[in-house]
Amino acid sequence: MNIEVSKRLSHFQTGIFAALNEKKDALVKSGKKVYNLSVGTPDFPVAEHIQNALIDAAKDPDNFHYALKDLPEMLEAVKDYYKKRFGVEISTDEITSVNGSQEGIAHIGMALCNPEDVVLLPNPGYPVFEVGSFFGRAQSYYYDLKEENNFLPRFDEIPEEIAKKAKYIMVSYPYNPVCAIAPKSFYEELIAFAKKYNIIIVHDNAYSDIIYDGVYGGSFLEFEGAKELGVELFSLSKSFNLTGARVSFVVGNKKVIDAIKLLRSQYDFGMFIPIQKAAIAALTGPLDGVKAQCAKYQERRDVLCGGLRSIGWDIRDSQGTMFAWAKIPEGFSSSQEFCMELMEKTGVICTPGDAFGSMGEGYVRFALVLPVEVMREMIDVIDKSGILHSRS
Ligand SMILES: Cc1ncc(COP(=O)(O)O)c(C=O)c1O
Repeated sequence: MNIEVSKRLSHFQTGIFAALNEKKDALVKSGKKVYNLSVGTPDFPVAEHIQNALIDAAKDPDNFHYALKDLPEMLEAVKDYYKKRFGVEISTDEITSVNGSQEGIAHIGMALCNPEDVVLLPNPGYPVFEVGSFFGRAQSYYYDLKEENNFLPRFDEIPEEIAKKAKYIMVSYPYNPVCAIAPKSFYEELIAFAKKYNIIIVHDNAYSDIIYDGVYGGSFLEFEGAKELGVELFSLSKSFNLTGARVSFVVGNKKVIDAIKLLRSQYDFGMFIPIQKAAIAALTGPLDGVKAQCAKYQERRDVLCGGLRSIGWDIRDSQGTMFAWAKIPEGFSSSQEFCMELMEKTGVICTPGDAFGSMGEGYVRFALVLPVEVMREMIDVIDKSGILHSRS
């Protein structure tokens, strides 16, 4: 039988990641040491009290039934956490769980958009942002994030006719991949812009606990008027190392939350109860481990960014996130060319910036997922390979 799958799938490409993986497998097979800094999954352990909550809950057979909805005590835990951590008052009907921010962002366009709508997306962009717009059958409009603007958008560069058609704008700080944070004035500007054009704000907040040099990492909902205009995706993946558990929340405007809940009720029977219990333990438990972990990420950031600078690669210090974003060395014609050569010569795997959109060309992203000793060794390997100065 000739099976034809949806033409819509041709929208998605696996290109560069498949090529990187193939090359990595070949290197490993050949016995070469590999330093894999391409994937943003934390290598730190999950706190014991969170593991125990999951294990205890998994011992009760009743907890294997369909959850159907968020446990009231989990919603209370999110509500209390927002008050304690960010000083933000929300009610439990302004919260819904999602199976990771990835899932929430992928589906938010379906909950909000009609075909004539425009979605404003950052370039470079975390890839699922575009998926949300595509699934919502909306038109994507990209606003540029440039290094000279500290990777913040220039709202005055968004044409008025686009702004008028925009249904929602995706924003995210601290931002993966560019590793920049946003000042308070940015959020005030964002809120004024969204208010003027009646645009919903969707703030992806995955890294408020991984922010460097003593800067405060907060919530979009702390700003006056935020809840009237939008929602925030609040992920437990990175703060609590729960990436595989798929637990995140959308918090904020009730109308948006209700739309997400209605949509989700059509394809999901609720989050596995032991994971809900683990989320409660994370949110109500001690947070000193989260702070200590941020300090460890900062040490890695210092070793990686400082180390690369010391061997002649002039890269910016990350301000937040578990990544570093670096301009490729002189003489290379593209991020992909540099990544492939770096991998061949040194075994170091990073992500080419163009995987995040056209404005990512000329950059690469490193994930801070190796211990400092291994990072130091890796920097030495890069230095000895001569790749940084091979084309200049
Ligand atoms: C900016 C950003 N948003 C969302 C996600 C996905 O988070 P989750 O694990 O909650 O799906 C990530 C994960 O790397 C991310 O970097």
